[in-house]
Amino acid sequence: MALYSEKVMDHFRNPRNVGIIEDADGIGEVGNAKCGDIMKMYLKIENDIVTDVKFETFGCGSAIASSSMATELIKGKPIDEVMQLTNKAVAEALDGLPDYKMHCSVLAEEAIQAALNDYFSKKKAAEG
Ligand code: FES
Repeated sequence: MALYSEKVMDHFRNPRNVGIIEDADGIGEVGNAKCGDIMKMYLKIENDIVTDVKFETFGCGSAIASSSMATELIKGKPIDEVMQLTNKAVAEALDGLPDYKMHCSVLAEEAIQAALNDYFSKKKAAEG
C-alpha cells in the first residue's frame, strides 16, 4: 500500500480554501510544539452556519491535506455540527493517514475549535 492515499496527495497538491478571510468572525491558530508546524483557520459565520472558511498552514503535507479536507467538511455546516468534527473524521475523509501522521489531523481539529472559541468570545463581548 502506498504511504499516502490518493486523497491525501490530491489535497496536498491542490489544497482547497487556502488563504485568509479579512473580516473573519473567528480565527484560530494552533501549533504543534514537536514538529513546529502551525495552522491558522478563518471562519465566516452567518446565522450559526459556517458560510466560508479559509486556512493557512505552515507545515507538512499531511497537515496541509488535513486542513484542506477539514475546510471542505465544515463549509456550509451549522456550528454545532462543526463543533463535533474530530481529527479522526478528517483522517477518514482522507482515506486514512499513517499512524505517525495522525497528529497532523489533530491540528485541523484544534484550529477549527480555536476559531469557534474566538467566534463565541467575540460574540459574547459584543452582546456585553
Ligand atoms: Fe507536524 Fe505534520 S509533521 S503537523
